[in-house]
Amino acid sequence: MIVAPSFLTADLSQLESEILSISSAKWLHFDVMDGQFVPNKTYDYQLVSEVKKYSNQFFDCHLMVDNPLSDIYRYVKAGANSITVHLEALGLATKVAIESIKNLGIKVGLSIKPMTKVEELIPYLNDIDLVLIMSVEPGKGGQKFMEDALDKISFLNQYRKEHNLNYLIEVDGGINLSTGKLVSLAGADVVVAGSFIFNRSNRQEAISELENV
Ligand code: DX5
Ligand code: ZN
Repeated sequence: MIVAPSFLTADLSQLESEILSISSAKWLHFDVMDGQFVPNKTYDYQLVSEVKKYSNQFFDCHLMVDNPLSDIYRYVKAGANSITVHLEALGLATKVAIESIKNLGIKVGLSIKPMTKVEELIPYLNDIDLVLIMSVEPGKGGQKFMEDALDKISFLNQYRKEHNLNYLIEVDGGINLSTGKLVSLAGADVVVAGSFIFNRSNRQEAISELENV
């Protein structure tokens, strides 16, 4: 399992030591929130470029924003390796967003909130590198895992086998060892974890436990 620690929970005043404490993770997950698409506001591409000074991990940027297209170039310039946008923020502009991100030469992901049906992703599955299933209502860390994410993961796992596709399945929200195991069995490849990792004194140990669920 690939583990992507969520930078939502990091102490941004101790940036370098926070990054070092999770340096064993292959990915870093940036939870960007604009205070409109979701109630909270976090950070933007400027944090991504700050962190890039200390890390060469895979930068997985999750844009929980109303207008994801407006800043994608800045995220790429800041060092993003993938940008994930929300179907709910884009609607009919989803295809354009996918193409725009791909044209910038990085990976593209599409995310859906808990209330959105997984079938709504079908028109885009041939074109994306990653699907991000929200297993909590986006907006903050430390929430409880929502079990109906499991059916979505299984559906996507089955679909990619049947259609010979190789998008990654990533899950975000309420991930710990037991929910990590459940999503792994359902077919997930990547888990985002905030509180499970950052609340532990030995974060590298938490990461390797999750990697081996
Ligand atoms: C929700 C955030 C959280 C975060 C993970 O908008 O995206 O899901 O990444 O937080 P934990 O692991 O604490 O649920
Ligand atoms: Zn996220």
